[in-house]
Amino acid sequence: MSEEITMKKIDQFANHAVRPTASETHIEAKNFSLFYGDFEAVRKVSLEIPKRMVTAMIGPSGCGKSTLLRSINRMNDLIPSTHASGEMIFDGHNIYDRNIDVVTLRARVGMVFQKPNVFPKTIFDNVAYGPRLQGVKNKQELSDLVETSLRQAAIWNEVKDRLNENALGMSGGQQQRLCIARALAIKPEILLMDEPTSALDPKATAKIEDLIGELRENYTIVIVTHNMQQAARVSDLTAFMYEGVLVEFGKTKRLFTNPENQQTENYITGRFG
Ligand SMILES: Nc1ncnc2c1ncn2[C@@H]1O[C@H](COP(=O)(O)OP(=O)(O)OP(=O)(O)O)[C@@H](O)[C@H]1O
Ligand SMILES: [Mg+2]
Repeated sequence: MSEEITMKKIDQFANHAVRPTASETHIEAKNFSLFYGDFEAVRKVSLEIPKRMVTAMIGPSGCGKSTLLRSINRMNDLIPSTHASGEMIFDGHNIYDRNIDVVTLRARVGMVFQKPNVFPKTIFDNVAYGPRLQGVKNKQELSDLVETSLRQAAIWNEVKDRLNENALGMSGGQQQRLCIARALAIKPEILLMDEPTSALDPKATAKIEDLIGELRENYTIVIVTHNMQQAARVSDLTAFMYEGVLVEFGKTKRLFTNPENQQTENYITGRFG
């Protein structure tokens, strides 16, 4: 299906929090809730995240953006006392089904965090880490993978002569692109990014934003951001959350210029949050 038709569909359903039909849905939340103990941090969210587009999640602090993002690759499993209800459909299966292999899921749905979390290893070993765990041993294959991933993350030229240096010696912006390269090296289909530029200066931020624009050709990207200008710049679709609820979801341009919901309008015009 051409992008034009997909976007038309998005327009058509942009007035609703749930976009009921999309032929290229990559992940679909259906009545999905995530609890910390008894507390329902994400409340019965239904949304369809389209393939090879950038979906931004915005909303005030504590509204459940990170929780929902982490629900997409079951990162919340690492936090004790969490449980989910409803469904998160990926590739025809609810990823919360018992027989789902979480390791495989996380390889297909990669993640980049707020603070660059490079390992205290060489630049090369950081990127080769995932593929090695996946069993890639061949030296040439590994170095090809490392180069491709670093190129994709737009950092190859800066590091190609220092692959054996410790990654901790890189700048924050470089470290974050290295983390993106490390995520890409395991060949994910979906990339989750939780405020990936909040620890970076404007120049490094611009680089990451450009990179997101390039990656969207080949990956489905979901990005949490506090920065509404950033959401407007990088995303195709925006989801506005408030107190765990998905309040509004639609085409970014429309949502920022003509929000349907009063709470969305209040938030984007800076009346709260
Ligand atoms: N590990 C946890 N244990 C218990 N409650 C949690 C945990 N993590 C988050 N919460 C609660 O869940 C709710 C949603 O938190 P979440 O981190 O998803 O919000 P957020 O929208 O990402 O906020 P921020 O913009 O500040 O990052 C909040 O009320 C928070 O206090
Ligand atoms: Mg968060």
